[in-house]
Amino acid sequence: MSTAIPESVKVWSQFFHPILMWVIFVLMGYALYLGMKIRKTRSAEGDEKKALIKGKFNVKHYQLGSVLLALMVLGSIGGMAVTYINNGKLFVGPHLLVGLGMTGLIALSAALSPFMQKGQDWARYTHIVLNVGLLGLFGWQAISGMDIVQRIISRL
Ligand code: HEM
Ligand code: HEM
Repeated sequence: MSTAIPESVKVWSQFFHPILMWVIFVLMGYALYLGMKIRKTRSAEGDEKKALIKGKFNVKHYQLGSVLLALMVLGSIGGMAVTYINNGKLFVGPHLLVGLGMTGLIALSAALSPFMQKGQDWARYTHIVLNVGLLGLFGWQAISGMDIVQRIISRL
């Protein structure tokens, strides 16, 4: 492809998405931990409840969740951009399709926020199911993603 981007920048940009996605994966695990603490805070009583409330797990979770939403959307678009720059096309395979599906699901999950804050249980459980599903799909993306990384390295 005839772009003005220097070859070395093109090649090395391919490592940005995988590294970012691993960071997001770890942060998502932490979001799950914070979410479980929110549930524990709600069901606790007395002194234990007071101590848990001080943890502000709901605030921390909402902030981290918002950061994750933004990083996931940008990371996914970035993966497609870098793939296109290096190959002149996208590969309509499992990693692309599952990735786009996940990007849609995290938007859905985040969109439940106002309903969860109103205390709607249906929204809470839908949120949990969506996000545990997302964590599972992420494991799959990590495997297919590392496959792609190996292919890129073997071409260096
Ligand atoms: C990415 C992985 C995520 C996981 C594993 C996760 C998990 C959870 C869990 C387990 C709860 C507790 C539900 C309950 O109270 O019964 C929760 C609540 C909540 N989550 Fe998430 N979540 C994630 C992402 C997000 C995102 C992207 C947002 C929004 C941008 C978000 C916003 C919220 C809000 C507003 C609540 C309700 C907090 C409250 O009751 O005050 N979460 N989440
Ligand atoms: C640790 C996990 C992941 C690894 C190691 C990984 C790795 C890769 C690699 C090496 C590429 C080729 C392009 C490039 O190098 O920039 C790629 C493309 C892509 N990735 Fe990921 N990825 C991971 C997770 C994700 C997730 C969670 C999503 C979406 C939510 C995603 C969405 C995409 C998309 C849409 C492409 C473009 C695919 C194409 O057009 O062929 N990836 N990924």
